[in-house]
Amino acid sequence: MKNILIGACLAAFAAHAFAADPISQRKEVFKQYKPVVGAMGKMVKGDTPYNKEEFAKLAGKLDELSQQPWQYFTPGSDAGKTDAKPEIWSKPADWQKAVDNHKAATAKLKQAAQTGDLAAIKKQFADTSQTCKACHQSFRKD
Ligand code: HEC
Repeated sequence: MKNILIGACLAAFAAHAFAADPISQRKEVFKQYKPVVGAMGKMVKGDTPYNKEEFAKLAGKLDELSQQPWQYFTPGSDAGKTDAKPEIWSKPADWQKAVDNHKAATAKLKQAAQTGDLAAIKKQFADTSQTCKACHQSFRKD
């Protein structure tokens, strides 16, 4: 019984330690970006057939994800197992702009996805991907 209790405490502690680590949390969100953007990219390129409903679902998911990573770039989380550049904290206005550009682009992509207009979707998907790249160039170590 005692061992079970100790085990439960350790598990709770481990879960807490993980949840309290903002670096792991933001990486976790970015990892979820990957399959979503990947599946959309395939449809946009024609590698998989374009499906309006499926694409709209992915665009909605991306829009949700685009709200999430930024809260985990907390003060002091610039050191350790992270590729985040110190400029995130030393140039907060530029960082905020990169975040806002990205959120605006994903919101537009979500709207375009509702229309089923593939040409407009392609353009907006390219614009959205560009906001990922632009931010990585300025704020992520390669
Ligand atoms: C406003 C800036 C910004 C935008 C926009 C952005 N990222 Fe990132 N991304 C980062 C930073 C900073 C890191 C490094 C995080 C760390 O290591 O702490 C990162 C890390 C990642 C990672 C690696 C996660 C890991 O496991 O280490 C992936 C994958 C990723 N981003 C994908 C994307 C995709 C796809 C998009 C666009 C749909 C995107 N990102 C948009 C800033 C951004």
